[in-house]
Amino acid sequence: MALVPFDDRDGFIWYNGTMMPWRDAKLHVLSHGLHYASAVFEGERAYAGNIFKLREHTDRFHNSARILGFEIPYTADEIDAACMQVLAANGQTDAYVRPLAWRGSEMMAVAAQNSKINVAIATWAWPAMFADRMKGIRLDMAEWRRPHPQTAPTASKAAGLYMIGTLSKHAAEAKGFQDALMLDWRGHVSEATGANVFFAFDGELHTPTPDCFLDGITRRTVMALARVNQIKVVERTIMPEEIAHASEVMIVGTGAEVTPVREIAGTHYTPGRITETLLTDYEKLVRMSPADVEKRLAG
Ligand SMILES: Cc1ncc(COP(=O)(O)O)c(C=O)c1O
Repeated sequence: MALVPFDDRDGFIWYNGTMMPWRDAKLHVLSHGLHYASAVFEGERAYAGNIFKLREHTDRFHNSARILGFEIPYTADEIDAACMQVLAANGQTDAYVRPLAWRGSEMMAVAAQNSKINVAIATWAWPAMFADRMKGIRLDMAEWRRPHPQTAPTASKAAGLYMIGTLSKHAAEAKGFQDALMLDWRGHVSEATGANVFFAFDGELHTPTPDCFLDGITRRTVMALARVNQIKVVERTIMPEEIAHASEVMIVGTGAEVTPVREIAGTHYTPGRITETLLTDYEKLVRMSPADVEKRLAG
């Protein structure tokens, strides 16, 4: 399939408060965000006209920026409304939604206290990330490790944190895998390059404690869905030598949704009852109205 570059598409992008033709949403090469990674973003999905957990994403967007020392110059109501406006302008009901905020071109040194904070929101069609869902994907083990929270702002969805994600995913793809599982700085299992990870052990759902990586919105949703399905959820330190004993493995995230894993670096798994229950329930949940989502998760 021919690649359609992301800067040469039809449609609209919301850019600092105005709706702009897609191809005109440009920035200058001397932008602080580009040189020094002073940028944060969100990844959301719209289903049947609603953006799933929109306000949680918007709150995290603001919080990610604060962790990087800047304030997004739009309220949560304004960002929520802008996300919906871009979808409408692009005529989409089901799409990926990408808000992004970055420091501009006013200052070009490590310090950039007086730079303008720019915000853009784009949407594009992004079907299920991994086709043939229940078959499962293959993960390699990444060489890169998630950093200590005093080494990087790990609670922020900051662009700079994706540097090791891209390196790890490229290395995995070069060996024929779809993604990579990363350990953290201590050698504990952490997450995939753009999604959290869950393991089934003895009919329970186990997941690493998110103390140096993103506590994903999908992760929290899947934990709530497991509980309403009477599946016990355990958040704990998971060591790499344990994962061979898991009966099922899945990665979850806005992009990945609930994706079964069939291999981690030579160890094979068969997606089973727990994966199927959570995958099916998640697919139903995301298409519900926000009020019904809350009701379902309340049990
Ligand atoms: C590194 C990383 N971890 C976890 C997640 C999952 O977060 P969420 O479920 O909020 O999308 C993402 C994004 O999808 C991510 O990029």
